[in-house]
Amino acid sequence: MAGRTRTTKKLAQRIDLNYFKRAYPIPRWRRILSIAAAGLGVAWLGWAGLTGKQSAFNAGPLARAHVLLTNNCSSCHVPAGSFGTQVTETACLACHNAPVHQAKQTFTPACTSCHVEHQGSFRLAAASEASCTQCHSSLKTTDGKPQYVTSVSSFTSGHPDFAAVRPGHAPDPGTIKLSHQVHMKSDLKGPSGPVQLQCVDCHRPASHSPNAPMAAVNYAQHCASCHPLVFDSRFAEPAPHQETKVVHDFVVQKYTEANHGNGADWVAQRVAEAERLLWQKSCKECHVLTYPAPDARPEILKSAIPIKWMTHAKFDHNAHQLVMCTECHGQAKTSNNTADVLLPGIATCQKCHSGGRASADSRCSECHDYHDWSKTKPASSLHAIADFAR
Ligand code: HEC
Ligand code: HEC
Ligand code: HEC
Ligand code: HEC
Ligand code: HEC
Ligand code: HEC
Ligand code: HEC
Ligand code: HEC
Ligand code: HEC
Ligand code: HEC
Repeated sequence: MAGRTRTTKKLAQRIDLNYFKRAYPIPRWRRILSIAAAGLGVAWLGWAGLTGKQSAFNAGPLARAHVLLTNNCSSCHVPAGSFGTQVTETACLACHNAPVHQAKQTFTPACTSCHVEHQGSFRLAAASEASCTQCHSSLKTTDGKPQYVTSVSSFTSGHPDFAAVRPGHAPDPGTIKLSHQVHMKSDLKGPSGPVQLQCVDCHRPASHSPNAPMAAVNYAQHCASCHPLVFDSRFAEPAPHQETKVVHDFVVQKYTEANHGNGADWVAQRVAEAERLLWQKSCKECHVLTYPAPDARPEILKSAIPIKWMTHAKFDHNAHQLVMCTECHGQAKTSNNTADVLLPGIATCQKCHSGGRASADSRCSECHDYHDWSKTKPASSLHAIADFAR
C-alpha cells in the first residue's frame, strides 16, 4: 500500500504567502460597499438635515395621536447643550395641560415613563400596570395617612371590593319607594292589560358616547302611564307632577272652573278631598312627605337618585351592552326595598377582567383616570395647522 508522500514542508509550500497583499473580489467589494453605505448614510442624514426631512432620524413610529408630529421632531426633542437632544416635561406641557394625580403623592413620575413614545401605540394613554403599582403596591402619602387601601398589586391581587358594596356600606340614598321585584313581575297590570317590564323600559344609557351614565329615571317617561295623578273622575287631565304648591293651585283652578253656583264652600271641600287623596295615596305611594307644620301642605323630599355611584372609577354600560343586566345587577329581580344597593361587587368584574391570557384589559388605566382632570386649565399656547401638517 504505497501512498503519496506528504511532508509538512511540501504542504507548507502550497500556501500563498502573498495572500493578504492581493485584492480578492469579495473582501474588496466588502470594503467598497461598507465605505459607500456609510457615506450614503451620512449624505442622507446631511441631506435630510438640510431639507428638514426629520424622519431620517426616527426611532420608531410615533403613537397614533402624535403621528402628525412626525414632521416636527423638535416639538418634543429640544436641544440639550451642544450635542444631541432631550425630551423634557416642558415639551409635553407646552401642548398638554396634564394635571398632577394627587396632592399628597410623594414624587411625580416623568410623563414619558407612562406614555412611551416611538412604539406606534394605538392608545398612548394606556399606561402599564407597573406605572401605577410602583406607588400603589405600597402606597405612601406626604402626610403618612393614606385614605385608600395601600397594597394593590393588580386588579386581582390586593384590589379592594368597591366601597358601595363593601360590608357595612351605606344604603341607597334615593327616596323613591320603588320595589324592583313588584315591577319585574311577569303579569304586572299595565294601562292596557298585563305586561312584562324590561330593565331598559326604565334604564337606558343617556347616549352612545363612552362612559355615558344611565339616563335618570323620570316620572313622566317611566311611571306616568301606569300611575297617572288622577284625583277626580270629572277631569280627564291628571294633576301636574310638580311641587305640592303647583298641584294645589291646579286643583283649586279645576274646581273653580267646574263650580256652577255651588258656592265657595263647595270648592274648598272638593279641594280638601282631592288633596287628601293626592297627598296620602298618590304622592305617598312613591314619595316621602314632610310636613313643615302640622296642618300645612306637605312637601316632597328630594328624590336624590344617584347617577354616578363609583366616583373613583370609570364604567361604561355601552362597552358591556351584550351582557344581561341581571348578570351584574342580579338583586334587581328580588329587591323589595329602595334602600338596597343593586350594584355588582369586584368578583363579577374579575370573571372577565381576570388578568389572565384570555382576559379583558385589566390594567389600572382601563378603569381609572390618573390625571385629576377637574384641575385642568385651557391650553396655554395654541398652534397653527402648519405646526402639525407640513
Ligand atoms: C411626542 C413627542 C415626540 C416626538 C414628536 C418625537 N419623539 Fe423621539 N422620543 C420621544 C421620547 C419620549 C423618547 C424617549 C427618550 C426619553 O425618554 O428621553 C424619544 C426617543 C427618541 C430617540 C432615541 C434616542 C433618545 O434620544 O433617547 C430617537 C432617535 C428619536 N426619539 C427620534 C425622533 C425623531 C427622528 C422624531 C421625528 C420624526 C421624533 N423622535 C419625534 C418623544 C418624541
Ligand atoms: C406639538 C404639540 C404636542 C406635543 C409637544 C406633545 N403632544 Fe401629546 N398630543 C398632541 C395632540 C394634537 C394630541 C391628540 C389630541 C389630544 O388628545 O389632545 C396628543 C395626544 C396625547 C395623548 C393622548 C393619546 C391617546 O392615545 O389618547 C397623550 C397621552 C399625550 N399626547 C402625551 C404626550 C406626552 C407625554 C408628550 C411629551 C413627550 C406630548 N404628548 C407632547 C400634541 C402634542
Ligand atoms: C407617585 C405615586 C403614585 C402613582 C405613580 C400613582 N398613584 Fe394613584 N394615588 C397616589 C396617592 C398618594 C393617592 C392618594 C392617597 C390618599 O389620599 O390617601 C392615590 C390615589 C389613587 C386612587 C384613589 C383616589 C382617586 O382619586 O380616585 C386611584 C383610583 C388611583 N390612585 C389610581 C392610580 C392609577 C390608575 C395610577 C397609574 C396610571 C396611579 N394611581 C399611579 C399615588 C400614586
Ligand atoms: C319601572 C321602572 C324600573 C324598572 C323596570 C327597573 N328599574 Fe331599576 N330603578 C328604577 C328606579 C325608580 C330607581 C331609583 C330608585 C331605587 O333606587 O330603587 C332604580 C334604580 C336602579 C339601580 C341603582 C340603584 C341601586 O340601588 O343600586 C339599578 C342598578 C337598577 N335600578 C337596575 C335595574 C335592573 C337591572 C332592572 C331590570 C332587572 C331594573 N332596574 C328595572 C326603576 C326601574
Ligand atoms: C307597566 C305599569 C307600571 C309602570 C311603568 C310603573 N308601575 Fe309602579 N306599579 C304598577 C302596578 C300594577 C303596581 C301595583 C302592583 C302590586 O301591588 O302588585 C305598582 C306599584 C307601585 C308602587 C307600590 C308598590 C311598591 O312598593 O313598589 C310604587 C312605589 C310604584 N309602583 C312606583 C313606580 C315608579 C316610581 C315607577 C316609575 C319609575 C313605576 N312605578 C312604574 C305598575 C307600574
Ligand atoms: C309612581 C310614582 C310617583 C308618584 C305617584 C309621584 N311621583 Fe313625584 N317623582 C317620582 C319620581 C320617579 C321622581 C324623580 C324623577 C323625576 O323628577 O321625574 C319624582 C320627583 C318628584 C319631584 C322632584 C323631587 C326632587 O328631587 O327635587 C317632585 C316635586 C314630585 N315628584 C312631586 C310629586 C307630587 C306632588 C306627587 C303627587 C301629586 C308625586 N310627585 C307623585 C315618582 C312619583
Ligand atoms: C358588566 C356589569 C354590568 C352590566 C352588564 C350592567 N351594569 Fe348597570 N352598572 C354596573 C356598574 C359597575 C354600575 C355603577 C357605575 C357607576 O356608578 O360608576 C352600574 C350602574 C347602573 C345603574 C345606576 C345608575 C348609573 O348609571 O350609575 C343603573 C340604573 C344600571 N346600572 C342599570 C343597568 C341596566 C338596565 C343594565 C342592562 C341594560 C345594566 N345596568 C347592565 C355594571 C353593569
Ligand atoms: C376592571 C376595572 C378596574 C381595574 C382594572 C382596576 N380598578 Fe381600581 N377600582 C375599580 C372600581 C369600580 C373601584 C370602586 C370605585 C369607587 O368606589 O368609587 C375601584 C377602586 C380603587 C381604589 C379606591 C379604593 C378604596 O379604598 O375605595 C384604588 C386605590 C384603586 N381602585 C386602584 C387600582 C389600581 C392601582 C389598579 C391596577 C393595579 C386598579 N385599581 C385596577 C375598578 C378597577
Ligand atoms: C362579560 C365579561 C365582562 C365583565 C363581567 C365585565 N367586563 Fe368590563 N369589559 C369587558 C370587555 C370585553 C371590555 C372591552 C370592551 C371594548 O373593547 O370596548 C370591557 C371594558 C371595560 C372598561 C373600559 C370601557 C371603555 O371602553 O372605556 C371598563 C372601565 C370596564 N370594562 C369595567 C368593568 C367593571 C367595573 C366591571 C364589573 C362591574 C366589568 N367591567 C365587568 C368585559 C367584561
Ligand atoms: C403614572 C403614569 C402617568 C404619568 C406619570 C403621566 N400620565 Fe398622562 N395619563 C396616564 C393615564 C393612565 C391616562 C389615561 C387616564 C386619564 O385620562 O387620566 C393619561 C392620560 C393623559 C393624556 C390624555 C388625555 C385624553 O385626551 O384622554 C394626556 C394628554 C397626558 N396623559 C399627558 C401627560 C403629561 C404631559 C404628563 C407629564 C406631565 C403625564 N401625562 C404623566 C398616566 C400617566
